[in-house]
Amino acid sequence: MSDDVKGAGFSRREFVVGAGIAASAAALGLPRRARAAGRTEITFASAKFTGVKGIGDVVELFNQSQDKIHVKFIELPPPSSSTEVHQALVQQLARKTGSPDVFTQDVIWIAEFASAGWALPLDEYFGKETGDYFSGTIDACTFNGKLTALPWAIDSGMLFYRKDLLDEAGAKVPETWDELVATASEIQKAGKAKFGYLWQGKQAEVLVCNAVSIIGSNGGSILSADGKSSMLADDAAVGAIQFLYDTINTTKISPSNVLSWDEEPSRMPFTGGEAAFLRNWSYVYSLAQDAKASKVVDKVGVAPLPHFAGGKSSACLGGYQYGVNANSKNREAAVEFLTWMSSPETQLWYALNMGLAPTRPAVFAAPKLTAAQPFMATLKDVFTGATPRPITPKYPQVSLALQSGISRALVTGKVKEELTAASEKINAVVA
Ligand code: GLC
Repeated sequence: MSDDVKGAGFSRREFVVGAGIAASAAALGLPRRARAAGRTEITFASAKFTGVKGIGDVVELFNQSQDKIHVKFIELPPPSSSTEVHQALVQQLARKTGSPDVFTQDVIWIAEFASAGWALPLDEYFGKETGDYFSGTIDACTFNGKLTALPWAIDSGMLFYRKDLLDEAGAKVPETWDELVATASEIQKAGKAKFGYLWQGKQAEVLVCNAVSIIGSNGGSILSADGKSSMLADDAAVGAIQFLYDTINTTKISPSNVLSWDEEPSRMPFTGGEAAFLRNWSYVYSLAQDAKASKVVDKVGVAPLPHFAGGKSSACLGGYQYGVNANSKNREAAVEFLTWMSSPETQLWYALNMGLAPTRPAVFAAPKLTAAQPFMATLKDVFTGATPRPITPKYPQVSLALQSGISRALVTGKVKEELTAASEKINAVVA
């Protein structure tokens, strides 16, 4: 392990100071369970991420390494319930009681939380270290020139495929949507997989993510470059959403169930060996490689999502970042906890155990990560070049209009009509 840490450019001292992670607390000579009495207690709220391990495990490691601070972890619904997690956090933060002291936030809420004054500007604590992170994540964490979030993990939509089925079909990894349809249909017709392509069409945030990337791969966008008008009724967007409708109704590479599936329900048939292709986030890879959860160990490849003829692959930027409650009464402890949580060692732990991509280039290059999850290094550009969803304090309203409009388009097939209606709603919010 220390070799990997060295390989990632961390000094031995940084490793020992920051960790209690790579080695167990006991191996570092720390008490297994320091007494909570006399310690400053802070609360930390986060969505529940799925992985071989969970966030509660990291919090426990932090607590074991500490004799000054004790963190109480509040687990919110999974990130696929983004709208619900958002609601839970807004209710807490708007009360201004200072609880939770620390939270994780979907990248799409940073502008809103910052402009509401709920997220503490972090420049004085972390401003000097911004160069240690991918510049795109620092941009995403900055609102009105202030760093109001600290980078944790980048997420990016990608294509998971069955290497074995593609080999048997003599097919290459599809680069265009037409190629994906052709290969998926062939594999289905040969009876090798029940489903060709799985994606997420549930009326939820993840549908917006699917839409952002497929529209982007047709040269379109949700909003105009100045952010002031909707482009959802433009031909590029309509054609892209029509393609998704067709996957269910015409090309039949996708089951109609995708309309009620978010991440996990779509991931399960894929790791269960029933599908040729899946669009999802990076967390899927470590589960696909876990014999307890997967029937396709060593059979899964990961590639950029396809594009339309003449277009370019586009991935939707996701990810969660840390925030400190502007009303926290325990700022120092909160900052100390975040220093530990965003350290290279903790980011490496998250990547290895939960498939969450590091926001630090040095950790991306760690040999142990490249060995365990080779796609991360190969797809670095997909992570760092992903397309953001609209950046505005009013994002929740924009998202709800997108979720319902796109969902209706996919259910009714009246794509142009529904996207035009949604476009008008979005214009009323952003104009
Ligand atoms: C992932 C992404 C997040 C997105 C969510 C939608 O958790 O990181 O940005 O909003 O999925 O389900």
